[in-house]
Amino acid sequence: MNQQILLARRPQGAPVAEDFRLVETPIPDPGPGDVLVQHRFISLDPYQRGRMDDVKSYSAPVAIGGVMECGAVGQVAASSDARFREGDWVLGGFGWQSYSVRPAKSLIAIDPDEAPPSTALGVLGMPGLTAWVGLEDIGQPKAGEMLVVSAASGAVGQVAGQLGKIRGAKVVGIAGGAEKCAFVKDTLGFDAAIDHRGNLDAQLDAACPDGIDVYWENVGGAVQAAVFPRFRDFGRMVMCGMISQYNTAPGAAAAGAPPGPNLGPVVRKRLRIQGFIVSDTGWPRYGQFRKEMLGHIKAGRIKWREDVAHGLANAPAAFMGMLEGQNFGKQLVALD
Ligand SMILES: NC(=O)c1ccc[n+]([C@@H]2O[C@H](COP(=O)([O-])OP(=O)(O)OC[C@H]3O[C@@H](n4cnc5c(N)ncnc54)[C@H](OP(=O)(O)O)[C@@H]3O)[C@@H](O)[C@H]2O)c1
Repeated sequence: MNQQILLARRPQGAPVAEDFRLVETPIPDPGPGDVLVQHRFISLDPYQRGRMDDVKSYSAPVAIGGVMECGAVGQVAASSDARFREGDWVLGGFGWQSYSVRPAKSLIAIDPDEAPPSTALGVLGMPGLTAWVGLEDIGQPKAGEMLVVSAASGAVGQVAGQLGKIRGAKVVGIAGGAEKCAFVKDTLGFDAAIDHRGNLDAQLDAACPDGIDVYWENVGGAVQAAVFPRFRDFGRMVMCGMISQYNTAPGAAAAGAPPGPNLGPVVRKRLRIQGFIVSDTGWPRYGQFRKEMLGHIKAGRIKWREDVAHGLANAPAAFMGMLEGQNFGKQLVALD
């Protein structure tokens, strides 16, 4: 049977277990040109919280009773197309379920000999591509500049900071708790790590005494309020995400967040603040990104960490935990 996690109702604030429903349906048959994929890893990402709300966005919401959306990697279980054989590894937008049937032409083949297949959802997948695109197009840190990255131990943050180091920037990561901070500094090789549960102002003053050239924004709220006044002239703010606000109603202020920053310095300091969505400009450049990243990985310049939950039934809990910072690295669910 195909196990599926459906969106049972739209969450009010933080998602709870009752917002999801686990069902079993017959495994679908592939039609001509189709492939049946058995999913091995599904990807939990913060954007999926946005898909649970019925609001106008860059992508349609998941319908009530629909399968939760996500990227996943799996192996071909049956194929009606000459391009794929049983056992081949593929990447696609398969959803929170254990099997799916997709047209062969919509699948991306993965070579498991190049890197472990799960990396196609993390360092070599959408989150890594996000970090690469945002730094190439918006952040553009130069050698010697100060780059600050929030949610630095997470899927996007760990890559953004390491790519900043490769470009020669000084990199400070912001993460929640001593263990994540130690990982950011000692394993990922950032110059310093700041615990956002401590005194942000004092720690930023110590780590960035001359101010900040590039801020990689993943979280918003109190972290953004502390970073913003420290921009140097011609600073750039890469607006990647603001996870601290994802459980608040659209347009409402995040609970406990200080009032937004005074935007006056944007003019005085000639700042550039730009949001982006990886799917707009990232996927057409995926080949170039993957080639570069594989080079960095083989040379030992890029490291990564995954946080793997086990069993589809545990996906909702792992997702809810990620929104609270309980994940340590790229959050995946192994369907073993
Ligand atoms: N623009 C795009 O195309 C694009 C694409 C992918 C991802 N994103 C965005 O990038 C950001 C990171 O995504 P990810 O997949 O890499 O997730 P992640 O960092 O692996 O996981 C989320 C992390 O956010 C931190 N966090 C949660 N609530 C917080 C709060 N109130 N204050 C401070 N930190 C908080 C937690 O880390 P700590 O324990 O360290 O606080 C948590 O582990 C998200 O905002 C996501 O929406 C954007």
